[in-house]
Amino acid sequence: MPKVASGKTTAPKAKLLDAFNASITFDKELYEEDIQGSIAHVKMLAKQNIITDTSKEKIISGLKLILQEIHEGKYAFDIGDEDIHMSIESRLGKLIGDDAKRMHTARSRNDQVALDFRMFVLKNNKKLVTLLTTLIKTLLNIAKKHTTTLLPGMTHLQHAQPINFAYHMLAYVSMFQRDIQRFEDSFTRNNVSPIGCAALAGTPYETDREYEAKLLGFDGVSINCLDTVSDRDFALEILFNIATMMMHISRFAEEIILWSSSEFRFVELSDAYSTSSSIMPQKKNPDVPELLRGKTGRVNGNLIALLTVLKGLPLAYNKDMQEDKEGVFDSVQTATISLQILSQALESMSINKKAMLQATKKGHLSATDLADYLTTKCGYAFRDAYKLTGEIVAYADTKATDVSELCLEELQKFEPAIKSDIIKTLQLETSMNARNSQGGTATCSTLKQLEYFENWLSERDG
Ligand code: ARG
Repeated sequence: MPKVASGKTTAPKAKLLDAFNASITFDKELYEEDIQGSIAHVKMLAKQNIITDTSKEKIISGLKLILQEIHEGKYAFDIGDEDIHMSIESRLGKLIGDDAKRMHTARSRNDQVALDFRMFVLKNNKKLVTLLTTLIKTLLNIAKKHTTTLLPGMTHLQHAQPINFAYHMLAYVSMFQRDIQRFEDSFTRNNVSPIGCAALAGTPYETDREYEAKLLGFDGVSINCLDTVSDRDFALEILFNIATMMMHISRFAEEIILWSSSEFRFVELSDAYSTSSSIMPQKKNPDVPELLRGKTGRVNGNLIALLTVLKGLPLAYNKDMQEDKEGVFDSVQTATISLQILSQALESMSINKKAMLQATKKGHLSATDLADYLTTKCGYAFRDAYKLTGEIVAYADTKATDVSELCLEELQKFEPAIKSDIIKTLQLETSMNARNSQGGTATCSTLKQLEYFENWLSERDG
């Protein structure tokens, strides 16, 4: 099959042109979508009497054979064919002869590539949602076991107030829930068919775009052909959604790395998800979360790259747009393996409640409760209570003890109105459970959040 360019250009091609111009080396990833799209297209053409049923049947059986050849690894992707669309059309010609030439009636590679790529992106929106759902289930299972497990909640990476570990996990569940919603919103918005837009202006043939869209599982057809063949917003959306999700994963990974250090020891990754040092025999390194954090860089890069490619393009299709695919393939692949390995590593991660509890005994986590006590029980204005608490904290520091461990007599030296109930008030568990406002850390509030996420999941499953 001669290259499309032969319609107008006749002179021999420069040697480097094939290598530079071709996309087959990467867009072969779209072979299933391309074949599926072509089958729907010829069905529509036959229904509209644009081609005969005989041609349709021949084309479809040829395309199915090609699909089989590719699956069996018997298909030769030739760089001379430029891209997956030309490659399949060329192979079809060899398999069925002249009928193959009818397949490209009333379409262009511009709407064809827009279709294939959009279907690929939509399919992966769904796949990533499934993987995110598994991750959320894993986190909920961990959370269920730790609604009373105390650890220091931090701001500025400094001990702030006591929280429970389930509450911390549910913060990530909240992020991953929004990620799912973003992938689903994108799916709904972009689930319209581009096929039938042809090169840029529609087609004089009496096509039935709605029928073709239905065959391919779209909710409808795009509105304006000029926009459709130059629209890559759907690709930008998956890149942004992945970048945001990977940013969440990266923040989580950072905490796992910190928590795995000797200073924290809050968690320990299982040996199956850790590596060792080539020189230091005692080392167990958290390579998995480090790579999760590191891979965030490339998915951010992919988003910026495509935004940059698109920003100056006049309507409609320009070859620059061929640069849209590799970044998306890379981000999808990166997100897929990242979600899989994160869920698996979390399932086998051990959680060291003792180390977490130990850590809560440093940093005067219940100092706010002392200030609140002075305010509510001893008649202080909050700012005065805050100041006196600061003095008590400084005193505790001189004794190398935590505010929660001072005895009544010591506290009464600062304020005689303090009563024995202060001892319970300053206990870390009491402090955590005092924060029972909606969305707070108290075990009862955490349990409500857990229930919310479980209901949300079961409504989706059902
Ligand atoms: N390989 C091309 C791409 O990925 C397909 C579309 C080519 N269209 C064209 N008019 N040259 O963008």
